[in-house]
Amino acid sequence: MFSSEQDHYSLKKMASSIGLGTKSCIKVECDEMGRMKPLLLRNKIKEAISNGQRPFFVNATSGTTVLGAFDPLPEIAQICKEFNIWFHIDAALGGCVLASSQYKHLMNGCSLADSISWNPHKAMGIPLQCSVFLVNHKTILYDYFSTKADYLFQQDKLYGEYDVGDKSLQCGRKTDAFKLWLTWKAKGTQGFEHTINKLFQNAESLRNQIKSTQNFYLVLDNPETFNVCFWYVPPQYLPMGFQAPQKVLNLSKTLENGRKVHQLTAQIKGLMQKRGNLMVAYQPLGDKPNFFKVCMNSPTATSEDIKFILQEIEQISHILLNHSSL
Ligand SMILES: Cc1ncc(COP(=O)(O)O)c(C=O)c1O
Repeated sequence: MFSSEQDHYSLKKMASSIGLGTKSCIKVECDEMGRMKPLLLRNKIKEAISNGQRPFFVNATSGTTVLGAFDPLPEIAQICKEFNIWFHIDAALGGCVLASSQYKHLMNGCSLADSISWNPHKAMGIPLQCSVFLVNHKTILYDYFSTKADYLFQQDKLYGEYDVGDKSLQCGRKTDAFKLWLTWKAKGTQGFEHTINKLFQNAESLRNQIKSTQNFYLVLDNPETFNVCFWYVPPQYLPMGFQAPQKVLNLSKTLENGRKVHQLTAQIKGLMQKRGNLMVAYQPLGDKPNFFKVCMNSPTATSEDIKFILQEIEQISHILLNHSSL
């Protein structure tokens, strides 16, 4: 199975839990935006075939966990068709763009997939957990999972046609679909569209504030989603050759200043947790040192809330830098 090097860890877990082993999960390199490179996917598939392996599954990510990137679906679909491989899209995060006429183009090509997973509990305001699994083969879930248990799935029972229990792996489960249905009824498609557009606007507003605030730098200038990735870098940790108006940095963990930013970011988060005013995730990526990631989730966040994120991080770093030997 093939997936990008910036995919979600669940792909590796899946390889392990279905008994393939994690070595069967072959990772494909990404471009600078975090999108899988289709040319390299094709090469890796060919290489696997020539090694006697049997490629059967490609996962494309729509909205990667860290950078929010969208893998190029039409190109990946074409490769899957050529090699007769199941084409899955992990749209857990990015599937929500389909609700917005302004941003749905990010998932162009999704109708070519064999299956798509999507989490309305991310970005769409549905309480955890609420996940959708769509399959582009009408009867395949019945073909694989149906047991026709006659004490549950009677053909002649009232409203039997609405009972979809026989086409899923599990038996008992919560009525998670109800939350999506009810919210959709309440907010309407337009309500979802407004939510998604607002998340993009809020992300842009945070990026603009970062650009106009000293010591904050973006990891990516124009990410594809509402994930905003950034560093707090005090002047003494700036890289050699830094030019003053520059607001997008390319830091590396292999250099001393990068290592210091790596350490400082984790320490800022630690004190942030203790103060309890804000929760912002951080992570490294490849050779990039730790950076903060705000994944916009609430359409009701105000510009004051967004300003507070930077103010709090700034204040915490002042405390740390004045009281440590960093
Ligand atoms: C791209 C992607 N896929 C899958 C998941 C897993 O989501 P969950 O465990 O909430 O279903 C996440 C969670 O962050 C994600 O970002």
